[in-house]
Amino acid sequence: MSDFSSGLWHWYITIPTLLGIAGCAWLLWTMGKHRASDPIKSIGGGESVESTGHVWDEDLRELNNPLPRWWVGLFVISIVFGLGYLAIFPGLGSYEGNAGWTSTGAHQAEVAEAVQQLAPLYARFEQAEIPALQADPKAMGIAERLFLNNCAQCHGSDGRGSKGFPNLADTDWLYGGTPEAVIASITQGRGGMMPPMAAAVGSADDVANVVQYVLSLSGKATDPASASLGAGKFAVCAGCHGADGHGNQAIGAPNLSDRTWLYGGSVDAIRHTIEQGRHGVMPAHESKFSSSQIRLLSAYVLGMGQSQ
Ligand code: HEC
Ligand code: HEC
Repeated sequence: MSDFSSGLWHWYITIPTLLGIAGCAWLLWTMGKHRASDPIKSIGGGESVESTGHVWDEDLRELNNPLPRWWVGLFVISIVFGLGYLAIFPGLGSYEGNAGWTSTGAHQAEVAEAVQQLAPLYARFEQAEIPALQADPKAMGIAERLFLNNCAQCHGSDGRGSKGFPNLADTDWLYGGTPEAVIASITQGRGGMMPPMAAAVGSADDVANVVQYVLSLSGKATDPASASLGAGKFAVCAGCHGADGHGNQAIGAPNLSDRTWLYGGSVDAIRHTIEQGRHGVMPAHESKFSSSQIRLLSAYVLGMGQSQ
């Protein structure tokens, strides 16, 4: 199948291809017209032979004889094969071929076949409880490969995450660490939304004070006086993070009173969060995985946290 941006490309491919084939056929036809001379006789000098005029080593002459018949036959077969192929399969610009073959269709057929072959393998994971899956080394082997191929680029091959990508190998959860919550995170994806809050907090000093207050929640404030001034301003944050800063898993607002940070626990990182807001996106995997694959992945993810 072709996705040309302009119809010009269709002709740019079709015309030279067909002209090329026609040119080959014409060459074969005209060259095949004259008969081959007898090389033995011509060496003896009994008959005049058409020569290309090229001579090497004094008497080695290049004769202009037509191609052997079997060779011509091969050319004719190639031309017929080429034309037949171009009629059946897509190859001439945007002409789709009359067999209805497409590379997308071929890929989909292969995927469907693989899914069908794997179905019995996954079927036994469909109804299994999460602890039973975690205890099954074969199931966890499959889950680990799924994780490494599909999740590790964001969450790390050990699941420990990085700035903006949550650590899945601890017991701290943005959206909850129950099987239902983890399955929902993977299936539907997540998008934590913290709007820019500087204007709601007030002046730059107010923001600095709130930063100190946030640090004080996990016992890390460097300026306690500033932190106590910030406490009053935290009211605008409490709607999402809770009055005590313990967070809210329903909207993925992180717990600010622990020592786990999604975006870093430095003064600069926290100020940046308040001034610019944050919006981490976990893509939905609904269309990519079957429900048993998502169960396997959830069991694997939950297992990483339990082994801490
Ligand atoms: C493109 C990057 C990306 C990929 C790929 C990705 N994730 Fe995520 N994931 C995130 C981000 C970012 C978040 C946090 C979302 C937020 O801040 O609200 C997240 C959140 C999660 C959570 C919720 C964590 C919590 O603390 O509640 C789970 C569980 C999770 N991912 C599992 C997976 C699994 C399993 C896969 C592979 C199938 C995966 N992720 C693939 C970026 C990704
Ligand atoms: C509308 C709800 C909402 C409000 C209001 C809000 N936050 Fe947030 N906050 C969130 C969400 C959701 C996240 C996680 C963003 C993500 O997943 O990318 C977050 C993330 C953070 C983080 C990063 C935590 C980490 O682990 O790195 C800090 C710090 C923070 N908020 C502080 C504040 C402060 C201070 C205020 C008040 C000035 C505030 N937030 C107001 C929803 C909110």
